[in-house]
This record gives sequence, structure tokens and C-alpha cells, in this order.
Amino acid sequence: MEILYSATKPTGKLTLGNYLGAIKNWKEMQENYNSIFAVADLHSLTINIDKKELNDNIYTQFATFLAAGLDPEKSIIYCQSHVKEHAELAWIMNCLTYFGEASRMTQFKDHKKKDKVVSVGLFAYPMLMAGDILLYNTNVVPVGIDQMQHVEICRDIAMRFNARYGETFVIPKGIIPKVGAKIMGLSDPTKKMAKSEDNENNVIYIEDDDETIRRKFKRAVTDSLNRIKYCEEQPGVSNLLTIFSCIKNITINEAEKHFEGLGYGELKSQTAQAVIDELSPIRQKLRELKQNKTYLEEMMKKGAEKARLIASKTLNKVYRKIGLVI
Ligand code: TYM
Repeated sequence: MEILYSATKPTGKLTLGNYLGAIKNWKEMQENYNSIFAVADLHSLTINIDKKELNDNIYTQFATFLAAGLDPEKSIIYCQSHVKEHAELAWIMNCLTYFGEASRMTQFKDHKKKDKVVSVGLFAYPMLMAGDILLYNTNVVPVGIDQMQHVEICRDIAMRFNARYGETFVIPKGIIPKVGAKIMGLSDPTKKMAKSEDNENNVIYIEDDDETIRRKFKRAVTDSLNRIKYCEEQPGVSNLLTIFSCIKNITINEAEKHFEGLGYGELKSQTAQAVIDELSPIRQKLRELKQNKTYLEEMMKKGAEKARLIASKTLNKVYRKIGLVI
């Protein structure tokens, strides 16, 4: 079986975007791949994050993976910082990456525009991510559209390494879901639904309760065209159709047919209900899991042990290839 690797970064609460663009698909894919899923906690340090918030987020994201159906018996599920090889390979990745190519990463450019200060860590973020992927001989990396550029630079670095030092890394392939690769905000559907959002109404969090979900969808922006069609002129309606079809596992076309002759009120309420039906069992499990930190820590430890076995082998190989004495 091919190897699959993916991760989320615990800088905030996971959103419906993270769920539909990533976690929901991982659950299905873990049946067909040797899968490895990480809470990329080291990546969180690239922004100035409160210590307690980070700690809570790590437990919550790990528990969300389990609550959403990622299975520690089938897949390796762990925290990035528990496997020291990530930080070590990241350094090698940094030394192989050109300043110019790292400067072209759009996420970095966006932060540079928006944030008062940006850390060197934020600049080096794609190289840490490249190391994550390459440590595990990964074949496929399922991500949302926003992470594709980082998977591309990972491929470039891996090819460069192989060309310079001989065949070492498997060249991974990024894959995005057919529908749901970019879930947009509810009140501003021209903007990606993001963990870092200031406007709570723009985002559905996995932990939102049913009433909150219903209220946020009720306020979702549509338009005055009065038709339910997936198209550029109707970003709000298109986003709702996307969310509905992702959850129901149907095509956009089928979703349009489903809503034929119905109004925006119905589109919003049925989409809200679909989201509630999907998220509320996860939220319940998540609540239970969060109360059992000992269990979560035990699972983290088991996952890290399995991950380390693979990661240390790769790192040794890399060190040998570049001439370090091991
Ligand atoms: P992060 O935490 O920003 O996002 C986790 C996953 O969710 C996807 N995603 C979305 N998909 C659809 N619509 C949205 N609105 C949306 N928002 C987020 C992301 O594309 C991602 O797949 N750098 C990564 C974490 C990471 C990683 C890795 C991923 C670290 N190492 C190695 C893959 C492989 C990140 O910050 O994801």
C-alpha cells in the first residue's frame, strides 16, 4: 500500500474547512493507504501563540482526529514535536532551499503584508513541512488548495536532494479533494474559511453547538439573484452548495438538482442540518475524549513510537548521504 501523510496545525480551533478539505477525506483514505496523521505543533510556533492556548489546541486536535474516525490501529497518529527528527530534517531542508523560492510562498507573503512582525520560523515553515512529508517516504499528501504550494516546494527540494546526493527521497504527490478543496467564509464567501478568522460568523468550528451552527448558516451571505446555481457570480450560494455536496457525498450537479425550485432559506437550513448531523456525533465523542487526557497521552505516545521508527531510519540515511558521521 502507498504511504499517505497529512497534518493540521494547532494555531486555533479546527474549522469546517479543515474538516471537509482534509480530515473527512483522511478518514476514508486511511482504508486504502498506510496513513500517518500529525498534529503539527512545531508549526504553531511560527506565530506568537499563547502557551495555554497552544497546549489546549494540541489535545483538542489530537482528540478531534480520533473523534472523527481516524483509527490508531490502522494509522499512525502523533504529535510532530514528539518525534525530534522533524526539527533535524528541517535544518537540512533549510540548507537546500533557496531564499528566492521560499520568498515566493503565498502564505508567507500574505502574513508579511498583514502581520506587524514575522518570524524566521514563519519563513522556514514550508521547509519544516517538507521534512514532515519526506521523513515517512510519503507517496500522497491530501491537502486543501491552500497547502498545495507547500507540497510543490517539498517536491522541488526532494528532487534537488536526490539529484545532488543520489536517490534518497520518494517524491510525494499532493492531492486535493474534487469538491471542498477550498471552503469559503459564510459571511464573506470571497475569503477562505480559516482558523485565524476574527469574525466568528465567517467560520463554523467543529466544536460549535447545533444552535450556533444554525444561527451562522441563517446569517450566511447569499445574493439577490434568487437561483441556486454554482457559479462565479454567486460565491455565497456556491459555497453552500459545496458544503452540502461534500457532506452528502454527492456532486455539485446533484446538489443543484436537489435544490431546484427551492429558495435560499431552504438552502441554508438544509445545509445547516447536514452540517449538524455530521458534526454533532464528532463533537460528542470529542468532549468525552478531552476529559480523558491520560488516554490521549497514551495514544500520542504510541503514535510517536511508531512514527519515530520510520523517521529515524530516514534521517540516518540522509545524514549518511550528505557526509555526516553517524
Ligand atoms: P492547516 O492546519 O492550515 O490546515 C489543515 C488542512 O485543512 C485544509 N484547509 C482547508 N481545506 C478546505 N477549505 C478550507 N477553508 C481549508 N482551510 C484549511 C488545509 O489545506 C490542510 O490540508 N502546514 C499545514 C499543516 C502541515 C502539513 C504537513 C500538511 C504541517 N506539516 C505535512 C500536510 C503535510 C497547515 O498549516 O494546515
